Amino acid sequence: MKVQSQNPIGIFDSGVGGTSIWKEIQLLMPNENTMYLSDSKNAPYGYKSEEKIIELSIKNTEYLLEKNCKIIVVACNTATTNAIKILRQKYNVPFIGIEPAIKPASLQTNTNTIGILATKGTLNSELFEKASSNLEDNITVIEQVGEGLVNLIEKGEINSPEMNRLLTKYLTPMIKKNADCIVLGCTHYPYLKDLIKKIVGNKIEIIDSGLAVAKQTKHVLNKHKLLLQSNNTPTYQFYINKNKSTLSYFLKQYPNSIIKELDF
Ligand code: DGL
Repeated sequence: MKVQSQNPIGIFDSGVGGTSIWKEIQLLMPNENTMYLSDSKNAPYGYKSEEKIIELSIKNTEYLLEKNCKIIVVACNTATTNAIKILRQKYNVPFIGIEPAIKPASLQTNTNTIGILATKGTLNSELFEKASSNLEDNITVIEQVGEGLVNLIEKGEINSPEMNRLLTKYLTPMIKKNADCIVLGCTHYPYLKDLIKKIVGNKIEIIDSGLAVAKQTKHVLNKHKLLLQSNNTPTYQFYINKNKSTLSYFLKQYPNSIIKELDF
């Protein structure tokens, strides 16, 4: 079947966090049809083996391709850093991935010290290792696994005392070591920005890759002549394989989104 511009942009994540990317895509290309897959049943991916992350990423991709998605956005740092190479080899559609923005942070820092909060799977990946070894020698990167954060966000706990306790524990060493940029290396974490700001104060820049991913998606669609030009009334479809309450909460400003609980 010929891929048409009306076909949806397919987006997947291990859970609800990738909606932070969906929101940037929706803002930049509001008339595009989108389809989002939240594999919450298998979240978090961050502690799974590379083989398992690849297997789940293949399953998610095939689901979206069966629904005729014209491009796949891997809205998950853990899936991108562990699986995107294989996905690109295996399927003949454009893929957009997301990686922690350590390079932009390294160009922005005045103290030459940046902190990064990400999953174990992302920080241990070859792709991340390569990206950090390509930074200038004078840049210090403080890596921190955000253990427990994804689980809390999946439960909708973005402001709980436990979240505050964990974030304070993870961010305090970065502040002490004089980091002036903190990179959010997981698509769930933009939902924690307000709380992070409260903990680290205004002098520390919080950097995520959401807008860059949306811009890159637009650029690649344009290049493949797949950008929807017409005045389309978009459909926003969301599929989740667990209870939808947190997803519904994150999407409450989008009354025209259709959320279905499915067993995939
Ligand atoms: N949103 C995923 C990411 O960007 C969360 C990973 C996980 O499920 O552990 O890495």
